[in-house]
Amino acid sequence: LVAGVDSSTQSCKIVVCDADTGEVVRESRAAHPDGTEVSADHWWTAYEQAASDGMLEGVSALAVGGQQHGMVTLDGDDKLVRDALLWNDVRSAEAAADLVRELGGPQAWVDRVDVVPLAAFTVAKVRWLAEHEPEHAARTERVVLPHDWLTGRILQSGNGFERWTTDRGDASGTGYWSPVTGTYQDELVRLAAGKALDLPQVLAPDAAAGRTDSGILVAPGTGDNMAAALSLGLEAGDAVVSLGTSGTVYAAHERPSGDPTGAVAGFADATGGHLPLMCTLNAARVLSAAAAMLGTDLAGLDRLALAASPGAEGLVLLPYLDGERTPNLPEATGSLGGLTRSNATPENLARACVEGMLANLAAGITDLRAVGVPVERALLIGGAAASAAVRAIAPMVLGVPVSVPDSAEYVALGAARQAAWVLSGGGDLPPWSVDAHTTIDLPSGDDGARIRDRYDAFRHTVHG
Ligand code: XUL
Repeated sequence: LVAGVDSSTQSCKIVVCDADTGEVVRESRAAHPDGTEVSADHWWTAYEQAASDGMLEGVSALAVGGQQHGMVTLDGDDKLVRDALLWNDVRSAEAAADLVRELGGPQAWVDRVDVVPLAAFTVAKVRWLAEHEPEHAARTERVVLPHDWLTGRILQSGNGFERWTTDRGDASGTGYWSPVTGTYQDELVRLAAGKALDLPQVLAPDAAAGRTDSGILVAPGTGDNMAAALSLGLEAGDAVVSLGTSGTVYAAHERPSGDPTGAVAGFADATGGHLPLMCTLNAARVLSAAAAMLGTDLAGLDRLALAASPGAEGLVLLPYLDGERTPNLPEATGSLGGLTRSNATPENLARACVEGMLANLAAGITDLRAVGVPVERALLIGGAAASAAVRAIAPMVLGVPVSVPDSAEYVALGAARQAAWVLSGGGDLPPWSVDAHTTIDLPSGDDGARIRDRYDAFRHTVHG
C-alpha cells in the first residue's frame, strides 16, 4: 500500500491505495484553520489527526502534495519564526512589483526563472518580510514551502530526518529556482531577502526524501497542481481546469512558458517536464458566496443557474471577491454589471456568478494557447466540478468540450502515485488506470463567445 497526502489550504486529506493499481483502500481528512496566515504547526496537527486510527497501517511509502508558494520561515534551530504566509495572501503585491522593477522588468525574471513575481510567489513574501518585519527576517535562516515542511516534519517525528528537501514542481513556484537550469538563483534570493538563505535540496522526481522510524519510504512530494497532473495522465491537447479554493488552468508541456505578461507561470511538473499554469484567487468559493447571498445552498444555486438562459439576460459578474491574481488586481473587489429591472432575478444572478467564475478561467485557456500550448479539451476537477450547473455551463464558457473525471481526490492520488513510483525504484510511472470520465460536448452556437466578450468588455470598463 502507498499513501498520498493533500495538505491543502482548507484541509489535510490522506488516501491509501494499492501500489500496483492505484485502487483506493481508505481515506481520511482533517480541517485546517481558515485564513491566509497560518501556523505551520496546524498542518502537522491535522496530518496527525488524519493519519490516526491505523490509517497508515501496511503503508510502505508516502508522499505529500501541498498548497504551493507559502512561505514557512525557520531559524537556525529549525523553529518556526512566524506564521506562514499562504499563496493567497496579497500583502506582498507591492513587494512583487518592486522586485520586477528592480531586476529590469518582467522579461528579466522570465529569462532567469520563467515566472514574473506576483504577490503569490515566495520570493515576494520573502521581500515583504525583509521590509516589514526586519526582526523576523533577521532570525530567518531557512525558507521552506508547505509540502517541504510537512515532509520534513513527518521525518523529524522519528530519526529519518537528514535534510530539508523539496522537488522541482514546488521549487518552481518560489520565483528563485529555475526550471530551465534546475538551480537556485542566488542573486534573486539576495535581491529579495538582502542575504543568502538556506534552501531545501531539490530532489529528482523519483528520489526518496528519507524513511520514517516505522520504515515508510517518504517520496519527495510536490505542489498540489503538480500532484493532480501526475494522477490525471494528461495528453497533448488536455488542459486541467481546477475549481478549488484557487482556480487553475494548466497543461503538461515540454518547453518553458516564456510569458513576460506573467499570466502563465512557467512551473515545472513532478516528472521532469513543464507545467505552464494560470491561477485565479476566485473559484469554488464564488459559488458558496453566491449561494449564501441568494439564501440557498449549492444545490439551490445550481437549480437557479440552470433555470436562467445563457448570458443571464446581460447580467455580468467579475468575481474578484478575494482580490485577483490573474489578471493581476490584488486590491480588486467583485463587480456586478448590466443590472436592469427586468433581468434582476435570482436565476440570472446565480447564472452570472457561475458564468463569471468560468469566464475568469476561460482567460487561462486563451493565455495557454498564447504561449503555444494546444488546448482541445478541459479536464474539470476540484470541489466546484461537482456542481451540476458548472458541468452544464463550462463547455460553453470555456469554449472546449469538458471531461469530468469520476473521483475527486486528485492531489492525494497524485502524491500516492509518486510514492508508488519511488517505491518501485523509479523508471516508468506505475501504470495506474485513469478514471472513467463524464464528457460534456461543446454546444453549437455563439453563446459562449458572446459571454466571454461581454465579460472582457466589462472588465476593461471597470479595471482598464
Ligand atoms: C498555484 C497556486 C494555487 C495553490 C493552491 O500557483 O497558487 O493553486 O497551489 O493550493
